[in-house]
Amino acid sequence: MCGIVGYVGKRRAAPILIDGLYELEYRGYDSVGIAVSDGNTTKIIKKTGRVKEIESAREETGYIGIGHTRWATHGDVTVENAHPHTYKNITLVHNGIIENAAKLRAELMQRGEKFYSDTDSEVIAHLIADESCGDLLSAVMRGCGKLVGSYALAVLTEEEPETIVCARMRSPLIVGKAKEGLVVASDIPAVAEEGAELYSLDDGEFSRLDGKTVTIYNAQGSEIHKEPIQFDLAEGRAEKGVYRHYMRKEIDEIPNVLSDSTLKIDCDSRFSDFYRVLCHAEYIQIVACGTAYHSGLCAKAAIERLCRVPVDVRIASEYRYADPIVPKGTLLFAISQSGETADTLAAVRLAKRKGACVAAIVNVKYSSLTRLADHVLYTQAGREVAVAATKSFNAQLAVLYSVAVVLAEIRGKRAPTLNGLDKKAKRTIGISESVRSWVPYFVGAQSVYFIGREADMCTALEGSLKLKEISYLPSEGYAAGELKHGTLALIGPYTPVVAIITRRDIAQKTMNAVHEAYSRGAKIFLVTCFEEFCEEKEITAFVLIPKCPSEFSPILSVIPLQLLAYYTSVARGNDPDKPRNLAKSVTVE
Ligand code: AGP
Repeated sequence: MCGIVGYVGKRRAAPILIDGLYELEYRGYDSVGIAVSDGNTTKIIKKTGRVKEIESAREETGYIGIGHTRWATHGDVTVENAHPHTYKNITLVHNGIIENAAKLRAELMQRGEKFYSDTDSEVIAHLIADESCGDLLSAVMRGCGKLVGSYALAVLTEEEPETIVCARMRSPLIVGKAKEGLVVASDIPAVAEEGAELYSLDDGEFSRLDGKTVTIYNAQGSEIHKEPIQFDLAEGRAEKGVYRHYMRKEIDEIPNVLSDSTLKIDCDSRFSDFYRVLCHAEYIQIVACGTAYHSGLCAKAAIERLCRVPVDVRIASEYRYADPIVPKGTLLFAISQSGETADTLAAVRLAKRKGACVAAIVNVKYSSLTRLADHVLYTQAGREVAVAATKSFNAQLAVLYSVAVVLAEIRGKRAPTLNGLDKKAKRTIGISESVRSWVPYFVGAQSVYFIGREADMCTALEGSLKLKEISYLPSEGYAAGELKHGTLALIGPYTPVVAIITRRDIAQKTMNAVHEAYSRGAKIFLVTCFEEFCEEKEITAFVLIPKCPSEFSPILSVIPLQLLAYYTSVARGNDPDKPRNLAKSVTVE
């Protein structure tokens, strides 16, 4: 996924584009570029690396322009593959994946058209240029008609020096009025300001920004009316403050997030409808990706134990191609921090076609998922900038556990309370700072294993993902009881093994796995709420976290693992906020 931005108006475009790209850098940061025009000539500046590489372009004159920060999908990280892309009189930036790009490129090359990059985006510039007919909007509509896949486009032509044409298909795009002009962007924070009037395009829609007017068209080319987005400027803004990295700051925000999310399930005005849907839920399915998938697994452990309702948790990218069975009365939860994850959106569209009622658990307001779902439960975690999800994971658990408590009560069962988790989270963060002493055992490890049972196994999966994605260390999260069925062969002297134990009735079972690993030379690191296990000879170091209902324990036991990943990443000289190869919102397949 990438970030795109555009501006036309009274002010110089370059600084607006560059500042907007900084706000979009979380979407991809391997190369960057802008195109600015003064109405006569269009100048393109593009580099590999982060947005700061084009700071020198800030002084460029020109009142219209487009910009792009890239996460490579088609083509290596090179200047040629960086956006903007041009062909003849067309210049554009693109976020998405064109699935029939190779076929289209071959046809165009047969007609003698030359290409300078390996990207699918350059093919779009050719298609639109070949459709040029004196009206950029018509050319864009016809060009897009040949595309299969996803795109968010901003397109310029020197023939219409005050016009930007935009198009959206399965990649988010915002258009509107701001900064004394007209703007387009992948996300609100890139262009938002007090008094801005912003609109979210839906799939198949186009927009023309020219002069002082934003016009939106449906796929048939008819002008349509949309209501502007209501956004909270403060919520969209993120500052590091005294912190070195956003990730460390966002971990410290977890207690506040829990107090907001735990105590009330915030959703749109249909909560009473959602309550009724909960009353009739016979089957629950959960679809999500990455960390959100792990929060779904944690929810399954809690809901099945507290409510005795079967919960089927599926990786969204698998669900969408599995022709899933969706029994009558299925309530499907789609969990997503960004609300823009392509696989999750596709899984939701499929589930809706199969008759599921869909509830979105999402952090970003007005995201695509909120418009697809029948019900929306916001996690209220505030903007999460670091690519590695932390506070949004804890917030997802807070909402999911709140749903579990409500569902248990509906079904006449007693459920433990969620109250006080915010204070316990604050204490856990303070206690967990001791993981810094673990880092020397991890920083050079060949491989790392996280083990647990039941809810603790879900936490182990999440702890492993955190470590992998920001320290680049090979790591696995594993069911503790499964270790002896093969993976134990990989454990040898000094292999770090992190054990999570928060449920008393199976604690000793996990300790059995600890002993098995220890006897092969592993170094054991324990996260537990039971003091008696901390002093055992097998334990190299431990974090003793506050007790809470074992069904909800991941909301606390994940915190030491989040901090372990953070400090290990920093020790390895990585940027934990922007890990290599990744991006915050995966809006492509
Ligand atoms: C988690 O740290 C990763 N950033 C990634 O696994 C993420 O959780 C996944 O891409 C899902 O994103 P979403 O919650 O925005 O849908």
